[in-house]
Amino acid sequence: HDVVFVGAPIEEGAGRRGCVMGPDAYRTAGLAENLQALGHRVTDIGNLQPEDAHTEKVPNGTVKNFHTVAGWTRSLYKTASELGQKAVFPVYLGGDHALALGTVAGQSLAANRLGKPLFVLWLDAHSDFNTFDTTESGNLHGTPLAFACGLKGFDGLLGHPLSHPVAPRNVEILGVRSIDPKERELLVDCGAGVRDMRMIDEMGIPALLAPFLERVRAANGLLHVSLDVDFLDPGIAPAVGTTVPGGATFREAHLVMEMLHDSGLVTSLDLVELNPFLDDRGMTARLMVDLTASLFGRRVFDRPTRSF
Ligand code: ARG
Ligand code: MN
Ligand code: MN
Ligand code: MN
Repeated sequence: HDVVFVGAPIEEGAGRRGCVMGPDAYRTAGLAENLQALGHRVTDIGNLQPEDAHTEKVPNGTVKNFHTVAGWTRSLYKTASELGQKAVFPVYLGGDHALALGTVAGQSLAANRLGKPLFVLWLDAHSDFNTFDTTESGNLHGTPLAFACGLKGFDGLLGHPLSHPVAPRNVEILGVRSIDPKERELLVDCGAGVRDMRMIDEMGIPALLAPFLERVRAANGLLHVSLDVDFLDPGIAPAVGTTVPGGATFREAHLVMEMLHDSGLVTSLDLVELNPFLDDRGMTARLMVDLTASLFGRRVFDRPTRSF
């Protein structure tokens, strides 16, 4: 692939500081070198800056850092809608998950211009399906998937309504183990795919993931993957502000990435919520790099054919 790194050092969507250091931690951990070793070309365009959105009306008193997050949403939306129409594979280096307010919407607009539906695989302990009205914490990293799916009340983010939302049925949330009561209602109402840890325990990753990938393939769709560090078990990935016990194991996470690679369907990727301030000698940054390498084709031994 022609891989493009886009640094998005946003931390204002999260409840604590530190994600600002995420993009540099991935660089330090050798993300580019690891992908180059797999035969990919890598261009790092450096870190984006947020646009100025300070004249926009704040939606309500609960929402935190609205203007800064709206500014990031605008610059990322613009960048993602441009890169999404080129023959490149964008990797968005976060930054907290609020960066997906811009990346998913931008990739969805780009997919629409290419005449293809966008599918989203959300690898996360959380569903991030709050709106400005339902969020209790006010942390906007808890809202990007609701925005991307076209839920109401977000117009101030871009300064206009979202023209090409993702169809909720094209969304698959995998590994979730924390959903707020109002998020749950919204998720049920819109019909997004929710696969919690219990389903992973009972069915295993292949039986859960393969049908979704088949749907993407059948629709000739593009697939955006949004990988939140807290998808992983805190024992192997401590560098995140919102740990939830009982996350994906090392082997489950790598299997997801290997299946995604073999599918050949993934066209863009977010790496989000890495908080290097909380890391233990870089172990989480390194794991995220290794998982990304699996997504880009690293494997122990070749297989003759795709098995799913
Ligand atoms: N649901 C909670 C909230 O709205 C937690 C969200 C955590 N999101 C994340 N990207 N870590 O505040
Ligand atoms: Mn998240
Ligand atoms: Mn999360
Ligand atoms: Mn590949």
